[in-house]
Amino acid sequence: MTEKWQDDPEYMSYIEDLLATEAVQKLANYTQHVNSTRLEHSLSVSYYSYKLAKKWGGDARATARAGLLHDLFYYDWRTTKFDEGSHAYMHPRIAVKNAEKITELSDLERDIILKHMWGATIAPPKYKESYIVTMVDKYCAIKEASEPMTENLRHKWHQWFPKKQSV
Ligand SMILES: [Fe+2]
Ligand SMILES: [Fe+2]
Repeated sequence: MTEKWQDDPEYMSYIEDLLATEAVQKLANYTQHVNSTRLEHSLSVSYYSYKLAKKWGGDARATARAGLLHDLFYYDWRTTKFDEGSHAYMHPRIAVKNAEKITELSDLERDIILKHMWGATIAPPKYKESYIVTMVDKYCAIKEASEPMTENLRHKWHQWFPKKQSV
């Protein structure tokens, strides 16, 4: 992760109580998109969304907090299946339940977490901030999943077309 969320005191003031909890720290034990842990992914989504919320006059604090908590679940989404519904439908609901164990959620924060899979799920977001998080989540997912692919391709390219030795 390249963004400097740790060096942003306003951002840190919004999320540091959450970041100090075991519930959030545990996300470091789960792979999210090939090369990123669920904690790295959640911090990226939270920080980018917070920046956009600030820029577009949204609630930056709620966006930062709900962004960090949007994937607060502890199973491998590639292998775990639910009878009640798809992973896309289930995990936002599980994340809300887990988030409510560590903090009080506002209606806005709950909507951000619940609707972040919009596109794969039907109910549309109620707030501007929820649209921000669902878009940033998709952007980060693609970026995180494709980075190793790009790296791999670069590596192959150099194998196929080795640099000519300068004489
Ligand atoms: Fe998610
Ligand atoms: Fe996510």
